[in-house]
Amino acid sequence: MKVIDFRYGFIFFLMFISCNWVIGAIKSQSSGEAYVTLLYGDEFLLGVRVLGKSIRDSGSTKDMVVLISDGVSQYANDLLRADGWIVEKISLLSNPNQVRPTRFWGVYTKLKVFNMTKYKKVVYLDADTIVVKSIDDLFKCGKFCANLKHSERLNSGVMVIEPSDEVFKDMMSKVTTLPSYTGGDQGFLNSYYVGFANAQVYEPNQPLDVLNSRKVPEMERLSTLYNADVGLYMLANKWMVDEKELRVIHYTLGPLKPWDWWTSWLLKPVDVWQNVRVRLQESLPGTGGGKNPRDELIPKVPAFLGGISICVCFAAALVSLGLSLVIIPRQVMPWTGLLLMYEWTFTLFFLQFGSYLHLVYQWGKAVANRAGQFRADPESLDHESGKGHQRQQSCCDVAACYYGLGMAFLAILTPVRFDGRRRPRFGVLHDICCRTSVD
Ligand SMILES: *[C@@H]1O[C@H](CO)[C@@H](O)[C@H](O)[C@H]1NC(C)=O
Repeated sequence: MKVIDFRYGFIFFLMFISCNWVIGAIKSQSSGEAYVTLLYGDEFLLGVRVLGKSIRDSGSTKDMVVLISDGVSQYANDLLRADGWIVEKISLLSNPNQVRPTRFWGVYTKLKVFNMTKYKKVVYLDADTIVVKSIDDLFKCGKFCANLKHSERLNSGVMVIEPSDEVFKDMMSKVTTLPSYTGGDQGFLNSYYVGFANAQVYEPNQPLDVLNSRKVPEMERLSTLYNADVGLYMLANKWMVDEKELRVIHYTLGPLKPWDWWTSWLLKPVDVWQNVRVRLQESLPGTGGGKNPRDELIPKVPAFLGGISICVCFAAALVSLGLSLVIIPRQVMPWTGLLLMYEWTFTLFFLQFGSYLHLVYQWGKAVANRAGQFRADPESLDHESGKGHQRQQSCCDVAACYYGLGMAFLAILTPVRFDGRRRPRFGVLHDICCRTSVD
């Protein structure tokens, strides 16, 4: 009797194991659908984390795949895995139209999504998008679906793609010949999918049998609800589509990315993004709420820095005002004098206060580096992410430099022109400041 019990038990045990195995196999087979995004450098890491959280919050259980390039650190890699992403490394597809090489370097890499033939259908989402309502119905869309963006052109921020070896090879063969108005993937796709603007709008609410029995078009347009651009919100300070029906918010607008703290003061939809961010789980130590443990390397800003900065600011303003009064010749036309006063004061002020800020920055960096050396974690100092989405700081510095030089040039040129003609008195400012010497 006991032996029989044991045998039954064993058989049940075997059945249980094999059932689990079969269920597992079915599960992994049926997930021929996935959400995909791309990460070029660590700057957009938080964006991908929030996107993933928003997809899960929308109730989807589909695979989430993030394609990462060489510029992404090992830490980001681990964190995304811990968040539930399937991480796949890819090499950057070189961009043949080197029109704006720095910004668009690697953007052609997006075309690799067409090569993900492991999946039957993928929904591609940019790292600066967020899902606010389930979009699983997108997987029923045809071979290639995207949005039009304020024009006859398609936007590559949200796309439904049926990966295909054939299509991918065809694209690769045309990559060097087809023009790209942006110099990136979006321009290329617009050349590749000719006549996209005339494509039918995808209607997700059709019954499944209608969807299945129709002839699948080469391309379909998605409603704005699936790629609602915050730029559109800014125009009217409200969503121009039904806010309750909104599915995907796309935080375009170059420098206004939702992970930059100041943007929530400028753009209301950033709140939606931040609300997901604060609910991010602690997948790795110290990463709950979207915190980055590496931020803690930055030492606390000393309390006295604020006071000192205000003093320096006022001192710089006074010194600039004084200096420009000394520099500007007394006999120029009143308006010229005012203009020069304005130019010199601001140029001098920015030079002084700029140097001060630079000093503070250097000091902070030095302290942070010192703090960083104490951590025996080489990956935490991995700054090799200067590809793809990185912003170019140096460009702004150069612009500021040119601006300053131009101003200085103007300031010197103007008195030379006016000097030696009529010799009017300077005007009010001169009166106020130099009365004693005149008297
Ligand atoms: C496309 O995918 C195939 C197999 O999945 C792979 O062997 C090939 O290298 C990929 N092509 C490119 C250019 O990434």
